Amino acid sequence: MKKNTLFILLLCLMHMTAAKAIKIVHGPYLQDVGETEATLVWLSDSTSIGWVELFPDDGTNAYLQTRARYYDTAIGIKRECRIHSVTLKGLKPGTSYRYRVFAQHVLSHKGIRVHYGDIVATEAYKVALPRFTTLDTSKPETSFLIVNDIHQRNDVLSKLLSMGQVKSRDMVFFNGDMLNIFDSEAKFFDSFMDTAVKEFATDIPLYYVRGNHETRGQFADRFHDYVCPRKPNLYYAFQQGPVYFICLDTGEDKPDTDWEYSGITDYDNYRTEQVEWLKDVVRSKEFKKAKFRIVIGHIPPFDNQEPIWHGSQEVNEKFIPILNNSGIDLMICGHTHKYEYRDKVRGCDFPVIINSNNGVVTASTQGDRIHVKVQEADGTVSLEKDY
Ligand SMILES: [Fe+2]
Repeated sequence: MKKNTLFILLLCLMHMTAAKAIKIVHGPYLQDVGETEATLVWLSDSTSIGWVELFPDDGTNAYLQTRARYYDTAIGIKRECRIHSVTLKGLKPGTSYRYRVFAQHVLSHKGIRVHYGDIVATEAYKVALPRFTTLDTSKPETSFLIVNDIHQRNDVLSKLLSMGQVKSRDMVFFNGDMLNIFDSEAKFFDSFMDTAVKEFATDIPLYYVRGNHETRGQFADRFHDYVCPRKPNLYYAFQQGPVYFICLDTGEDKPDTDWEYSGITDYDNYRTEQVEWLKDVVRSKEFKKAKFRIVIGHIPPFDNQEPIWHGSQEVNEKFIPILNNSGIDLMICGHTHKYEYRDKVRGCDFPVIINSNNGVVTASTQGDRIHVKVQEADGTVSLEKDY
């Protein structure tokens, strides 16, 4: 091939690459929604800067006027990346907002010169914008939905969300093991998260409680890029209406030394770190004065009818002594893939519900009671009880 033909081909190739329209490929989805802030996460297919436009939920046309803009930044600089996250701050409790997310292609960044390319945004023309509501501790009632151990089954996830009337809930919890192994970004989205976005996560707060399978694979250490990206930890506590939630990260089920972890884990120390945090949580004024207190964690405490695994032993020895005598109403777990109800046994002074890998837990407060229902995908009601 002649030199000038090669040059023309190269130019064409460069032009095609530059002309490729940027796309938003995943999200947006809500994370870390609180009373006065909310985080949005979305991904573009090329390196870009990102921002959110925030709209009041007042029915005005998206194109009425310039809207408040919040950039994806870190240390005061617009981040050039694909996984965008923005925490909207200064919001009002119990208030609905609408939003759009944007990405602008970064074509090159050399020295002090940045060349930006196309802008892409979520749809606003003749469609209802995504809309979320901040939490409100003074809200009289709340309701929520929990699924766990979906293990990459989009169809089961869709079915359980539909059975649990996801759109009517204040929030959704993923209680771990949503995938088998976190070995690629595509796995995270293709096997459950895109379904979550389609079904609810653009509008309804999602709280992700990590399971043990999320801790495996070459992307395991990047989990925090996608979940709670603007918070320091994957364990957290918050209140909605009358319910105070404690979300524990119970780590892996085997000892850190097990060959399956190839030496990458340090969960004993990580759980010990949570102990100090948990002590502060149960001592807090907000926790003590909440009407209901619910703990959500993937690995359940020890059931001494079966030989104990290390993860459960850790939960039993490190977390349960702090939770006992603290007024916990209920703990909700997964992991075993089998529905089970443990009523104040094995050292816990509160009931523990273990949801199966095909079950959905829905709960709603009704005055002085919390009504809890656990239903299997085949329609079987495993539990329906007031607390
Ligand atoms: Fe598990």
